[in-house]
Amino acid sequence: MSQATEIIQPNSSTNPTLSGGRGVPDSIDTVETLLADAGYVADRGVATVVFLSLRLGRPLFLEGEAGVGKTEIAKTLAAALGRRLIRLQCYEGLDASSAVYEWNFAAQMMAIRTAEAAGAGSDRAGLQAELFSDDYLIRRPLLEAMQPDPAGAPVLLIDELDRTDEPFEAFLLEALSDFQVTIPELGTIKAPEPPIVILTSNRTREVHDALKRRCLYHWVDYPDFDREMEILTARAPGLAPRLSREVVAFVQALRTEDLFKHPGIAETIDWANCLLALDVIDLSPEVIAETLGAILKYQDDISRLHGSEAKRILDQARATLGPA
Ligand SMILES: Nc1ncnc2c1ncn2[C@@H]1O[C@H](COP(=O)(O)OP(=O)(O)O)[C@@H](O)[C@H]1O
Ligand SMILES: [Mg+2]
Repeated sequence: MSQATEIIQPNSSTNPTLSGGRGVPDSIDTVETLLADAGYVADRGVATVVFLSLRLGRPLFLEGEAGVGKTEIAKTLAAALGRRLIRLQCYEGLDASSAVYEWNFAAQMMAIRTAEAAGAGSDRAGLQAELFSDDYLIRRPLLEAMQPDPAGAPVLLIDELDRTDEPFEAFLLEALSDFQVTIPELGTIKAPEPPIVILTSNRTREVHDALKRRCLYHWVDYPDFDREMEILTARAPGLAPRLSREVVAFVQALRTEDLFKHPGIAETIDWANCLLALDVIDLSPEVIAETLGAILKYQDDISRLHGSEAKRILDQARATLGPA
């Protein structure tokens, strides 16, 4: 399987609350509950745009800083709807063949050798038909997402689109408009039902307007204090409530500092797990200095927080919490 492909089979069957068309949620509230039950704390904006995307059958384009929960939305949605998740991880140089299909060249060569050895090499037409049959086809994510599935159309996650280049975007624009692929040797393959498409971008560059226009767009922001507390409670339930509040307040304060890279939600959760592993009861400048690598990933940012800076930010964070 390609490094760019990840296919996860659903483990839950159809959910009784999915009474909308195509077995999709019938209200924004239902989306919120479905995601929450699967461990994703969605704000109203996310729940609304997910609902609309499902209802209208439009691709959803999620943009935001790294670690704010974009990829997780697609994963959780697939699990919650009981659909397969098919992931196309984008990277520089990704081309159409790695995204749609390839012929299994090595297996074709083997088949030719075997046919020659068996003296069947003279039936050229027969051999050619066999070599370009389904048996030798390697389905990449976009083609895989067009396969019929009894559980319903899969969730197709096109992750970190900003890592690819413009020609790939142009190709994708076309692929997303009709969900059919023509393989010269096999004919045209069309999805019986279009997949639920979620694209993400960390905005290391602007994605072209034309592609964005095909999609519903949502900017996924850092959560506010209360939502990050909810997320932390769901994802690091072992952390004492008082320490959780300090952790979230500190991370929120850090995000107002002039840093090269602000910590995402993933970092908050990682940090909480580090503190749990170290049996920390209370934040202190020393504890922060020892565990800073869980929340800041650039040496310049880490060195900025040495000395009295960590204490200043901790005091500022505690002030927002009020008396314990
Ligand atoms: N709203 C949320 N509810 C629950 N967990 C979340 C939420 N947002 C982020 N997370 C956690 O943060 C981690 C990182 O999120 P991810 O989707 O990988 O970020 P992004 O794709 O935006 O870089 C996830 O694995 C998940 O554990
Ligand atoms: Mg991601």
